[in-house]
Amino acid sequence: MNKNGKISASMMCSSFDKLSDTIRLFEEENIDYLHIDVMDGNFVTNIGYGTSYVEFIRSVTDIPLDIHLMITNPKDKLPWFGLQPSDIVSLHVESDKDIKTAVERVKSYGCKCTVAINPVTPVNVLEEIYLTADGVNILHVTPGFAGQKAVEGTMEKTGTVIDRINELKLTDYIIETDGNITFERAKILREMGANMFVAGSSSIFKGDISQYRENIRKLRESIM
Ligand code: DX5
Ligand code: ZN
Repeated sequence: MNKNGKISASMMCSSFDKLSDTIRLFEEENIDYLHIDVMDGNFVTNIGYGTSYVEFIRSVTDIPLDIHLMITNPKDKLPWFGLQPSDIVSLHVESDKDIKTAVERVKSYGCKCTVAINPVTPVNVLEEIYLTADGVNILHVTPGFAGQKAVEGTMEKTGTVIDRINELKLTDYIIETDGNITFERAKILREMGANMFVAGSSSIFKGDISQYRENIRKLRESIM
């Protein structure tokens, strides 16, 4: 990870009628990743952005994908996504009893694999996986929907995880935060050591497409 924080644009916040214009704008603004929230209606109480959406996005842009799998049994479904070495795949620690094998299987595609953790899940479950994964994705909201408010205590929880990552001397480790990442929260999280920010309705998608460039500039400033 280079010194500046990376922006992972939450594509579930992009209206379908503006999708192509939004992707073009993101290419011009050098957005680092497109965050795809894959939801199966089972692991989370929403359904959306499945394999055909991922395939379509790949066909229209070269921006790397940050694929957030909110699905049950993710390791058995990896072949459905046409994974590329430029992808980051985020697997929920709650979604697979054998998370180590799941992470290793993602990495066998040449991708980076982060482990996502829900707000209610205690951080000690990450102990078994820190050394195998390429990073973490700390959810500040109960996953599945944009526009929510961060769960109480997620900022402190992020600090605890970052302290542990530093203790383990895991350098070049992806520390992503996802959910209600406002400009203000992003700044604090950056100062704590987070280096990748899921940018949704709380930041770059505020207002309409005419405001996105200014929003991106503001977020960039917060995560320098
Ligand atoms: C939550 C999703 C996010 C995010 C959207 O499940 O993973 O993409 O919350 O951004 P906000 O929270 O800012 O609308
Ligand atoms: Zn997400």
